[in-house]
Amino acid sequence: MPDGPVHTEPVHTGPVHTGPVQTGVLATNPTPIGSVPERRGPTGPVAFVTGAGRGIGAAVARQLAATGWRVAAVDVCRDDPALGYPLASSDELLAVVTACGTDAGGVERALAIEADVRDQAALDAAVARTTSHFGRLDAVVAAAGAVAGGDDSWHTPDGIWQAMLEINLSGVWRTARAAVPALLAQPVPRHGRFVALASAGSTVGLARLAAYSAAKHGVLGLVRSLAGELAGTGVTANAVAPGTTDTAMGRASAAVYGLDPEDLAVHHLDRRLLQPDEVAALVCWVCSPASSGVTGALLPVDAGMTAH
Ligand SMILES: NC(=O)c1ccc[n+]([C@@H]2O[C@H](COP(=O)([O-])OP(=O)(O)OC[C@H]3O[C@@H](n4cnc5c(N)ncnc54)[C@H](O)[C@@H]3O)[C@@H](O)[C@H]2O)c1
Repeated sequence: MPDGPVHTEPVHTGPVHTGPVQTGVLATNPTPIGSVPERRGPTGPVAFVTGAGRGIGAAVARQLAATGWRVAAVDVCRDDPALGYPLASSDELLAVVTACGTDAGGVERALAIEADVRDQAALDAAVARTTSHFGRLDAVVAAAGAVAGGDDSWHTPDGIWQAMLEINLSGVWRTARAAVPALLAQPVPRHGRFVALASAGSTVGLARLAAYSAAKHGVLGLVRSLAGELAGTGVTANAVAPGTTDTAMGRASAAVYGLDPEDLAVHHLDRRLLQPDEVAALVCWVCSPASSGVTGALLPVDAGMTAH
């Protein structure tokens, strides 16, 4: 059972890593996950979305909420000295929660949780809070990500290399590590979904963004491996690979080359930037029961960038 509107409890202002919930979702959850037998009950399925404070993750949260989902909206909400641009703020994350609206009973569809995807304890606690609050978990969207670079790969500083691998690759693995057990705790027949935001840079090299591209190639290997491990469970694992999208990260990627974001659209057959809602539409389809035949796939939404 949901434990009430979001506004009746404080929104975390720092990483969620205190209290007994760290010791395990199943052991400490006051409402055992899997106790809600129907995927689409009166209160709807539940998604855990990282990077939900803005951009593609925020668009996914809003679109899922608009189609009846409840959403744990997770974001670090803190800038990172390794990056050359600001990350989402707590206010932006709360605005996403507000935009997700309320259900027929006036209960907010989304729950804001601040957590860094590099912090396993924070992610474990965030999943525990999600299942405690909503009573179940049906889909995970690993959209948290960041970009940094500008040097040839052999001149890339350790700090940039580590930040790119830890946020973009290890962050997806840590999200799976925290959340896949909760997906598997749903009763059969399951319709669990793990969706990672990969990149066109998962299949092509990106000069002067080698660490980012290497991490995104790694996401593809991780997701394909997960798909094999989850075979037969009713839980799928897929990667969605955007081209350059009109977000803060898209702008930061262009800045690496001293370009405007629109200049990167020359790599798209469509010669235009993608909008976050276009990427979110594919992610939301993957989250839906209609995608049951798709697992271990890299699904491009790149305006034709990788078609030539
Ligand atoms: N924008 C593009 O052109 C583009 C292209 C290909 C792939 N992608 C991928 O799409 C995903 C979303 O990117 P976006 O364009 O919306 O970027 P964005 O910068 O607008 O949003 C990314 C979000 O992730 C959050 N975040 C960053 N580091 C985090 C951490 N350590 N823990 C938790 N949250 C963290 C940020 O605060 C931000 O809200 C990323 O994985 C990115 O690699 C984006």
